[in-house]
Amino acid sequence: MQRITRFATIKKLLVILIGIYAISIFLPRLFPNYFYSPPKRPSGPPKQRTMHFYNSSIDYNFMHVPNTLKCQKRSTLLVAIVPSIVNNSLIRTAIRETWASRSESEAIQDWEVFVYFILSRPNEEQWKRLRNEIGQYDDLIITDLEESYDNLVYKVYAAMDFFRAWCPKVKFLLKIDDDVVVSIDRMLYFLERESAMAEKSIRCKVWMKAKPKREKDSKWFVPKSVWNKQYFPNYCNGPVYLMSRKAVDAILDYTANFTMFQIEDVYYTGIIANAAGVSRLNWSRHMLSEDTIFQKGKCKCERSIPLWFAVHSFKGPNKLKAGFSQLKYLRCLN
Ligand SMILES: *[C@@H]1O[C@H](CO)[C@@H](O)[C@H](O)[C@H]1NC(C)=O
Ligand SMILES: *[C@@H]1O[C@H](CO)[C@@H](O)[C@H](O)[C@H]1NC(C)=O
Ligand SMILES: *[C@@H]1O[C@H](CO)[C@@H](O)[C@H](O)[C@H]1NC(C)=O
Ligand SMILES: *[C@@H]1O[C@H](CO)[C@@H](O)[C@H](O)[C@H]1NC(C)=O
Repeated sequence: MQRITRFATIKKLLVILIGIYAISIFLPRLFPNYFYSPPKRPSGPPKQRTMHFYNSSIDYNFMHVPNTLKCQKRSTLLVAIVPSIVNNSLIRTAIRETWASRSESEAIQDWEVFVYFILSRPNEEQWKRLRNEIGQYDDLIITDLEESYDNLVYKVYAAMDFFRAWCPKVKFLLKIDDDVVVSIDRMLYFLERESAMAEKSIRCKVWMKAKPKREKDSKWFVPKSVWNKQYFPNYCNGPVYLMSRKAVDAILDYTANFTMFQIEDVYYTGIIANAAGVSRLNWSRHMLSEDTIFQKGKCKCERSIPLWFAVHSFKGPNKLKAGFSQLKYLRCLN
């Protein structure tokens, strides 16, 4: 008798267990939204992207993005992105050893500022070398854009796109060419002392009254169908400019309304910035090109801080290092 009841109990238990199992399988199918949680993907935003210009759009991929956890932190103030040519690893090294070095900048040491390089598509042999570089520094953004003489306009788009998608909490994007030296700490010193509440702005050396080149064989040729006025609008000197997040957002929203041309600084920081309501703050007193004045080693200061913090164009790793040293040891005129 007892044996039978025990058997019955076990049977009941089995039925209950099978029931629970069945329910656990079928309920989620009936109400998938309640039960399904997608697997966590560490990969972040989609790496297949599209650039939108007036009359044209370009599909491209981020083949590699660095670990961007650090640039998702609220405490990160600024990301600098340097357009770089795949083969120019020596220049990247020079930058890492000078202005982008933790030992040369407190802000970089404190993880307030990060420096990335953005590259076009490497071939297979170049990939091998880049893998070492990635392993060592993890600061490369690699796209599948065609390398060419005039693809800066695409690289800068990709840099802004990357900044918008992968660094959503960072306040500033510094676009800086690989022949520029900058003192990040000095720049932040002056940035923090600015009174203007310019949330949608680009800080740069502002050019005015530039004329479009109408000769067809010019490297800077711009047809009237693209820009028909006598002058370009004011724009930022290309080698280095600092964009606020809202400026980046606004500019990316407006590229679709203007035909792209290869003069990247005029296009983004002049024509599109104007349409997008982005203001340019004139940082001419802080930025200059390498010349005899700079070589004298002295400049105006405020509270013993030299006004100059960004200088271009130093071609090649050795000149870059020398230029940085010159910038670092500037003395005050006053
Ligand atoms: C843009 O496309 C339109 C229509 O296809 C064409 O008429 C126009 O010439 C194009 N503009 C430019 C600048 O290519
Ligand atoms: C890059 O460097 C490699 C070897 O160092 C060379 O074979 C190749 O031609 C270079 N590519 C360009 C585009 O200069
Ligand atoms: C682009 O131009 C179209 C037509 O002129 C306009 O309707 C639209 O608002 C513009 N887009 C932006 C983002 O301004
Ligand atoms: C920017 O400032 C410089 C010097 O401070 C000045 O010479 C130049 O005219 C200014 N440019 C614009 C567009 O305001």
